[in-house]
Amino acid sequence: RARIHPDIDDILVSQEEIAAKIAELAARVDADYAGREILLVGVLKGAVMVMADLSRALSVPITMDFMAVSSYGSTTSSSGVVRILKDLDRSIEGRDVLVVEDIIDSGLTLSWLLKNLRSRGPASLEVLALFRKPEAITVDVDLRYVGFDIPSAFVVGYGLDYAEHYRTLPFVGTLTPEAIARRA
Ligand code: PRP
Ligand code: MN
Ligand code: MG
Repeated sequence: RARIHPDIDDILVSQEEIAAKIAELAARVDADYAGREILLVGVLKGAVMVMADLSRALSVPITMDFMAVSSYGSTTSSSGVVRILKDLDRSIEGRDVLVVEDIIDSGLTLSWLLKNLRSRGPASLEVLALFRKPEAITVDVDLRYVGFDIPSAFVVGYGLDYAEHYRTLPFVGTLTPEAIARRA
């Protein structure tokens, strides 16, 4: 089998599958928000690819803002303790806010973020995540739009990184053990 990238073992979700899913999610969002304007809030850095593609697939008017958060603890799993590295530029009071995430893993980042954003008085607050891992189901976060449920393997691509690398791969795949060991 030809390798598409030397560090990738398997492709879990292809570029074509991602594009089709983004189009499908955008159609649902368009229908749900008809006649309204959405403030898309992207969570840096993983969400940049979803933000770029989803925002261009939407027909309803949107504006964008970004937050950067960091969870203390290990690099491969989050602790739930979150620190704001970059806050939103503007108030979200009275706005229809849609948080855009690449992946919900433990769900801890998102549950902290939703609590934080809810306290700012948005008119509505929903979440779109392209990927979700099974563990996230155990955390009580309400995901309005989910693209794919994927296994708990260590995955990279389409925004997802390993030690800040591989975000620009157009697909989502698993790393080879060698690639993991190299940056461990
Ligand atoms: C990743 C991912 C989500 C979060 C999910 O971000 O992009 O934002 O972890 O994890 P959780 O559900 O267990 O909280 P990360 O903190 O790696 O930052 P990044 O987006 O800059 O890669
Ligand atoms: Mn992230
Ligand atoms: Mg990351």
